[in-house]
Amino acid sequence: MSYNIAIDGPAGAGKSTIAKKLAKKLGYVYVDTGAMYRAIALFLLREKVQPQDTDSILAKCTGADVTISYQDGEQIVLLNGENVNGLIRTEKVGNMASNSSAVPAVRDRLRSLQQELAANENVIMDGRDIGTCVLPDADVKIFLTADSAVRARRRFEELAAKGTPEPLEKIEKDIIERDARDRNREISPLKQAEDAVLVDTSEMTIDEVVEAILEICRKKG
Ligand code: C5P
Repeated sequence: MSYNIAIDGPAGAGKSTIAKKLAKKLGYVYVDTGAMYRAIALFLLREKVQPQDTDSILAKCTGADVTISYQDGEQIVLLNGENVNGLIRTEKVGNMASNSSAVPAVRDRLRSLQQELAANENVIMDGRDIGTCVLPDADVKIFLTADSAVRARRRFEELAAKGTPEPLEKIEKDIIERDARDRNREISPLKQAEDAVLVDTSEMTIDEVVEAILEICRKKG
């Protein structure tokens, strides 16, 4: 039986940074589900689909075959066989993902892939609906959040460090809009599972958050 840790939360709460560190410490596989939604979004953008055009998303999403492989412990997302890791981290792709992920057919395609990965390995999986829908029986569930201004600032610094800066105000506006869409969609909305532990990282360092989650895991046994 595999041991599964689910981490959900809004954009920019630090889920992937924290989950990667935890996975390394525990020797688990890190599964970044946002990257899968982003890969489908990239496909749709390449097909010139507009983010609000639900009919076209539905019609075109079947052309996106998303699979996962691992290289030196890093998750590689393959879109129709192409490694798209370097192409999916833009705000444009994130915003498209937040629209296309509200379409049930898109979610259905990815949920089974995510569940398969968790059935075969000890995983730390992050996303929006992991504790509520994908892995409702996860051994540990964390809801990671932070103030939207703090999340925007972190994202601003991350993009600047990568050499692809964006204005702070635009990032905060996008983050707030994206959260609202993720929280208010009908299917698998972003919400804290009843049995998830809330961790607010607004005033915590990365190492403090990692330690807090390890402590939660120890207590659960
Ligand atoms: O986490 P990340 O910012 O990469 O996710 C991009 C978008 O993909 C989110 O805004 C959300 O709409 C969608 N997503 C989702 N369910 C997940 C993971 C991501 O709907 N499990």
